[in-house]
Amino acid sequence: MQGHGLLEGKTGIISGALDPDSIAWAVAEAAHREGARFVLTNAPVSKRFGRLDELSEATGGSPVIYADATNDEDMDGLYQQATEHLGGPVDFVVHSIGMGLNVRKGRAYEELKYEWFQKTLDISAVSLHRMVSAGLRGDAIADGASVVAMSYIGAQRTFSTYSEMGDAKALLESIVRSYGYRLGKRGIRINAVSQSPTKTTAGGGITGFDALYDFADKVAPLGNADAASCADYTITLLSDYTRMVTMQTLFHDGGYNNMGISEAIIEGMMGGEDA
Ligand SMILES: NC(=O)c1ccc[n+]([C@@H]2O[C@H](COP(=O)([O-])OP(=O)(O)OC[C@H]3O[C@@H](n4cnc5c(N)ncnc54)[C@H](O)[C@@H]3O)[C@@H](O)[C@H]2O)c1
Repeated sequence: MQGHGLLEGKTGIISGALDPDSIAWAVAEAAHREGARFVLTNAPVSKRFGRLDELSEATGGSPVIYADATNDEDMDGLYQQATEHLGGPVDFVVHSIGMGLNVRKGRAYEELKYEWFQKTLDISAVSLHRMVSAGLRGDAIADGASVVAMSYIGAQRTFSTYSEMGDAKALLESIVRSYGYRLGKRGIRINAVSQSPTKTTAGGGITGFDALYDFADKVAPLGNADAASCADYTITLLSDYTRMVTMQTLFHDGGYNNMGISEAIIEGMMGGEDA
């Protein structure tokens, strides 16, 4: 995709890029292509196994600020450093953070370890609240800014192995609505992008991910949306072209959310019967 200068003159914070598979990695590349200046952020632990230095270099030397999205002091520090680097309040914030502790450790929904469940909700949903609140507290989010959080249709429908993450995404999308109301008076908008299953580190942590991925790909009329197309869609939400869109869960899933069954699934099932 060729750049169109959609984010020319804008500054922002992009969280959650770990490696080139990360959705946020693609968002950062696309934001750079569209003329934005931004800081990259991720959890301090990602310093060890992430590849943020490469992304920093590929996006014109974007500063990397390590901060835990479940820690308010870290969030305050993030905005302080971001505004210093960028010369003032930011025009956009991308929240692309998620982790299901029980899911990762293979614990069934009926047997959730609540300590882990709370951590899952904190990392995957409450962190959005913390991130916006810290930005407001520090006068570090500009009027007319745009906040985007990554979500999944597990917020509305039950996908067996998505388990606790469905609850986390439901909370995330609710925070989008609750904050959307409050941010509106400053022209700040906030939306969730409900993305197709995508082959990333977080995606791979879900049991049966390949089946979930293939099923969605066969149901969606356009097939699964990849990280690069998700990034392009996100750019439109960070741009002025969508300045009147807020409090939405916007499906970026090749049409999956409006489908029931498809020919490809029927054929697969019939084939199974014949065999
Ligand atoms: N991969 C998919 O199938 C899929 C589908 C829909 C939505 N999403 C969502 O997209 C977002 C990005 O995930 P991804 O698939 O790119 O995987 P990813 O593993 O590349 O990204 C998740 C990021 O969260 C970061 N993170 C975890 N704990 C953190 C903390 N305490 N503080 C700060 N950062 C922390 C990780 O370091 C990582 O960079 C998540 O919200 C995820 O739920 C993913």
